[in-house]
Amino acid sequence: MSIALIIPDRKLDDLQQRLQQALPDTAIEIWPELEDPAAVEFAVVWKQPHGCLNGLVNLEAIQCFGAGVDSILSDPTLPDLPVSRIVDPALTDAMVGYLDGIVNYYRLQLDVFSRQQQQSVWRPKSPRKLSSVTVLGLGELGGAVAEHFHKAGYQVAGWARSGKHLQNVQCYAGDAQLQQAVAAADVVICLLPLTPATENRLNQDFFQALKPGAIFINVARGAIVDETALLAALEQGPLAAACLDVFRREPLPGNDPLWQHPAILITPHVSAVTNVSTVVSQIADNYRRAQQGRPLLNPVDRLRGY
Ligand code: NAP
Ligand code: GLV
Repeated sequence: MSIALIIPDRKLDDLQQRLQQALPDTAIEIWPELEDPAAVEFAVVWKQPHGCLNGLVNLEAIQCFGAGVDSILSDPTLPDLPVSRIVDPALTDAMVGYLDGIVNYYRLQLDVFSRQQQQSVWRPKSPRKLSSVTVLGLGELGGAVAEHFHKAGYQVAGWARSGKHLQNVQCYAGDAQLQQAVAAADVVICLLPLTPATENRLNQDFFQALKPGAIFINVARGAIVDETALLAALEQGPLAAACLDVFRREPLPGNDPLWQHPAILITPHVSAVTNVSTVVSQIADNYRRAQQGRPLLNPVDRLRGY
C-alpha cells in the first residue's frame, strides 16, 4: 500500500521524509515514478496534470497540498473520491503577516516613494489615511484576516456566500450585497476560492463600486478578477493601486503588461505557502482516516467547489 505525491515542479524530499517518519509502514512515492500504481491508496496532489489520477485504480482519497482546490477540481476526469484540503494555523499566520505588511506598505506610501526614488525625487508625504478594510471571503483565511485588521484598529467588513455573524465585522452575503460590502472600503482584500461562481466575479461593476482612491489586493486566484476591468479602474478610477499575488497564468509571462504597470505591485504567489513541517500530521491523519473509512479532516464540497 502506498501514498503518491503528485506535485510537479517541486522538490519533495522533505515532504517524503517527514511523511515516511509519520507513517513508517507505508511506501511514500513521488509521481510519476510509482513502483506499482495499483498499490496507491492515497494521493497528495497539487496542480496535477489532468488525467494522471485515473491510472490509480485503488485510490481512496485525494489530499490537496494547499488550501485552494480549484486546480484539482478543474480536472474533468477527476475520480469521484473524497477530496480534502489544507487548513493550518501556520498558513493562516503567513497570510495575515503578508497582508499586514502589504497594507502597511500602502499606508506608509512606500509605493509612491519607490516611484520617486526611481527619479531621484525627494518629496515627503504623510501616511495615507486608510481606516477601513473589506475582506471578500470569510472562511479560514478571510475570517482571521478580518479579525486581525479589526485588532489593528480598522473598521472591517466582510463578504461571504452565506450570512455570517462575526463579532467586529460588518458581514454581507450573496451577490446582491457585494457592492454594498466594498463601497466604503479603503482597502479590499480578495480571499475567495476560485469556483464557477467566483470566476471573473470581480468585474467592471465591482471595480466601479469601489471608493475613489481604494486599494485592491488579490491573494486568492487570478481568474476571480476580470483583468480588463481592473486595469480600467486603475487608469480611469476609482482604484489607486493594486497588489497582485496570484495570476491566471503562473508564472506570470515576462511580456505581460501587468509587470510594468506603475500602480501594480506584483508578488510571485508567496502570500501563504504550505509549510511541510506543520501539515505532515494532518496529511498522515487523513491517510489513516481514508484507510479506516472515516471522514477526512478539512473536507472539500466538490459540488460547491471549495
Ligand atoms: P475557505 O475556508 O473555503 O473560505 C472561502 C470563503 O469564501 C467562505 O467564506 C465562503 O463563503 C466564501 N465564498 C465562496 N464562494 C463564494 C461566493 N460565490 N460568493 C461569496 N463568497 C463566497 O477558504 P480559505 O481557506 O479561507 O482560502 C481562500 C482561498 O485563498 C483559497 O481557495 C485559495 O484560492 C486562496 N489561497 C491563496 C494562497 C496564496 O498563497 N496566494 C494561499 C492559501 C489560499 P461561506 O463561508 O458562506 O461558505
Ligand atoms: C495556495 O495558493 C493555496 O491555495 O494553498
